[in-house]
Amino acid sequence: MSGAETHAPAGHAGGGRKGAASVEPQALGPMVLGDHEIHVWCLAGSEPLDDPSQERLRRPLRPEECEREARFRFPRDRQTFLLARALVRQVLSAYTGIAPEDLRLQANAHGKPEMAAAHGDARRISFNVSHTDGLIALAVMRRGAIGIDTEKVSSRAASLEIAQRFFAPSEVASLGQVAADALPRQFFRYWTLKESYVKARGVGLSVPLDEFAFELDPMPGALSLHAAPGDRASAWKFWQLAIGGQHLVAVCAERLPGVRPRLRVRSVDAQWRCGGTEMTLVGESFDA
Ligand SMILES: CC(C)(COP(=O)(O)OP(=O)(O)OC[C@H]1O[C@@H](n2cnc3c(N)ncnc32)[C@H](O)[C@@H]1OP(=O)(O)O)[C@@H](O)C(=O)NCCC(=O)NCCS
Repeated sequence: MSGAETHAPAGHAGGGRKGAASVEPQALGPMVLGDHEIHVWCLAGSEPLDDPSQERLRRPLRPEECEREARFRFPRDRQTFLLARALVRQVLSAYTGIAPEDLRLQANAHGKPEMAAAHGDARRISFNVSHTDGLIALAVMRRGAIGIDTEKVSSRAASLEIAQRFFAPSEVASLGQVAADALPRQFFRYWTLKESYVKARGVGLSVPLDEFAFELDPMPGALSLHAAPGDRASAWKFWQLAIGGQHLVAVCAERLPGVRPRLRVRSVDAQWRCGGTEMTLVGESFDA
């Protein structure tokens, strides 16, 4: 769930609070992405950054991205948007060799950002990004559709009532069996998986959320999809990760003929230095 984007006074995307951290991000080195690989990049933490650091992160962004950043009402949401866009540009640049500022992104009819067709099929890679309080997650794949969602597990936002509004009957029934203290985590397991599927398909909420369902842990660590009408569960591969103590991430990748997909996860900080965040694989879907 992203923050509220509003038409706040044009004042500026400042956020240079006293004691804010300073970063000098360095370019990531060249990266190789195999046909069978899905790479996930996680940027955890939401320490406020000072104005010069924000300016450095903003350099590769397009004017329209800076305008969008400035429209978020709260500094924390502005910074999350800025870091997410800067991360997308750095990471895509590392895989494609195109300079971060030269990358052209375009949105599909439902708003899903993609590398612009002008870059040519040989250089284009698929990506999807998600951001929430304290975590930005970016998934990349050489070809095929990809979706990622991250949420902070908070008891405030999880309830059976919300599940009844959005989830499939089987998911609601399963949540109804869960002990109250385990409900938030299980609720967000479903939520992130559902969002990752919707985001991979890239057609927004034209996929009704109650017309497809996940089954969690039919065997330990396994999960499975009952696909939406007109789709096949076997077309998709899912992974679910716990990042740090508070966040869940779900990744949905299109299965490609003859390719056995493998997931690699990296954490980076706001200087693009790797390492440091604890991650656990919570679940994975397997061939039917
Ligand atoms: C926009 C949407 C794709 C996800 O929104 P979200 O979960 O609030 O936000 P996330 O942080 O996970 O993802 C936002 C990013 O997804 C990307 N995105 C935008 N539209 C997209 C689309 N149609 N498909 C895939 N990705 C999309 C963008 O990069 C966006 O980042 P940006 O705003 O910085 O440009 C959309 O599916 C949505 O509004 N979902 C809410 C649906 C809901 O009510 N779900 C109930 C529980 S299952």
